Amino acid sequence: MTNPGVQPVLTDGTLTLRPWRADDADAVHRACQDPDIQRWTQVPVPYTRADADGFVTELAPAAWRDGTGVIFAVVDGSDALLASIGVVDLDRPNRSCEIGYWVAPDARRRGVASGATALLSAWVGEVFDIDRVELCTAVDNRGSQAVAARAGFRLVGETEHTFRGEPARMLKHVRDLAVGPR
Ligand SMILES: CC(C)(COP(=O)(O)OP(=O)(O)OC[C@H]1O[C@@H](n2cnc3c(N)ncnc32)[C@H](O)[C@@H]1OP(=O)(O)O)[C@@H](O)C(=O)NCCC(=O)NCCS
Repeated sequence: MTNPGVQPVLTDGTLTLRPWRADDADAVHRACQDPDIQRWTQVPVPYTRADADGFVTELAPAAWRDGTGVIFAVVDGSDALLASIGVVDLDRPNRSCEIGYWVAPDARRRGVASGATALLSAWVGEVFDIDRVELCTAVDNRGSQAVAARAGFRLVGETEHTFRGEPARMLKHVRDLAVGPR
């Protein structure tokens, strides 16, 4: 399916979620050298400049264009890159989606992941016509589990997930979205 229209910009007044641009590649390349991003997310390892270019110019725009999800750059008021967040798996038949994120090392522990997760979750329900947002964290990824709790997700238990092409036990966190009349 094709998603018509331009990927929007979302903001809560502090954080802004905007489409990726080609000139974000440097900052993405720098952030993705971080060992925790390489450990806990599915970015390529090693992470090259070509990976960053492909992410901002092809992979991220394709998600929205093709209707398979959406990936945003999270920036501050000066348009400095703080994080990446997006819908990494959209399950329209089950009216749910899974989100994923990373935060640049120098932007951590100031509410970026939890704020961006809350902002994205408040918007995805209507645009994708879904009722729930899921987040899967590695059992040892205490930081991301804390983000889930702060962003209003509840822990529903362990789940088998595919991580870097292999089955892995992960924790599933769910946020039910407010459902209006249909
Ligand atoms: C995990 C990560 C996303 C947290 O981002 P962040 O912007 O620093 O998180 P926030 O500032 O929104 O923190 C939200 C809560 O999590 C807690 N938290 C954040 N990082 C933590 C850590 N490493 N250990 C324990 N708690 C942590 C914060 O103290 C805060 O708790 P509070 O609500 O009780 O005050 C970031 O460290 C990161 O990008 N890690 C590598 C990639 C990754 O793990 N991605 C997620 C894969 S599922």
